[in-house]
Amino acid sequence: MTTNTRYSIGSRFLHWLIALLVLVLVPVGIIMAGRAEINLFDDLTNTLYAWHKAIGFSVLLLMIIRVVVRAQGGSPPYPRSLARGQTVAATALHHLLYLLLIVTPLAGWAAVTAFPALITLGGYNLPAMPLVPQDQSLATRLFAIHGSLALVLAALIIGHIGAALLHRFVSKDGIFERMWFGRN
Ligand code: HEM
Repeated sequence: MTTNTRYSIGSRFLHWLIALLVLVLVPVGIIMAGRAEINLFDDLTNTLYAWHKAIGFSVLLLMIIRVVVRAQGGSPPYPRSLARGQTVAATALHHLLYLLLIVTPLAGWAAVTAFPALITLGGYNLPAMPLVPQDQSLATRLFAIHGSLALVLAALIIGHIGAALLHRFVSKDGIFERMWFGRN
């Protein structure tokens, strides 16, 4: 009997696609929010907002697919050489990343629904989030929550990347390869 040493191809593809999108979203979000803060609402700011909303909403949809793919495909077992504490910490961090990758875009979507500012690329509107009323003060609170969640997410992602690189270049224990491409 062979045991899978890598995540399913679907999980790996979604992992790297979502990673790329989030790496774009965070700096774009910080830059556009900074421009809005100083009331600089020119074409560039509007374009950054439109892309941020479109990519952020895509991340939400991709995360829903990812959860389903992960639930079906499971995850490969950790090597026995890994200490129990390390596997528990890694699993907890991964669950937290999943949670934030769903709750952060949900908060952004709720905020633009309440504002309302649903317009995105090409003049298309995102759907309004059901049950969220149009209310400026609610939107302000939701934007603050969205921004804070995004910064916590960014900090955890830095830790996650650091751990992955340690496994790849220092421990060389095959953990990084679980999410990389190649034959099983
Ligand atoms: C994983 C997904 C997402 C990440 C990582 C993310 C990240 C960020 C970051 C870092 C900021 C800047 C916060 C600040 O400096 O105050 C921001 C702001 C913003 N985000 Fe997102 N975002 C995501 C999804 C979304 C979605 C789905 C929407 C709406 C459909 C959205 C709409 C906005 C808006 C309108 C702002 C500006 C808030 C303001 O002007 O105060 N974001 N986001």
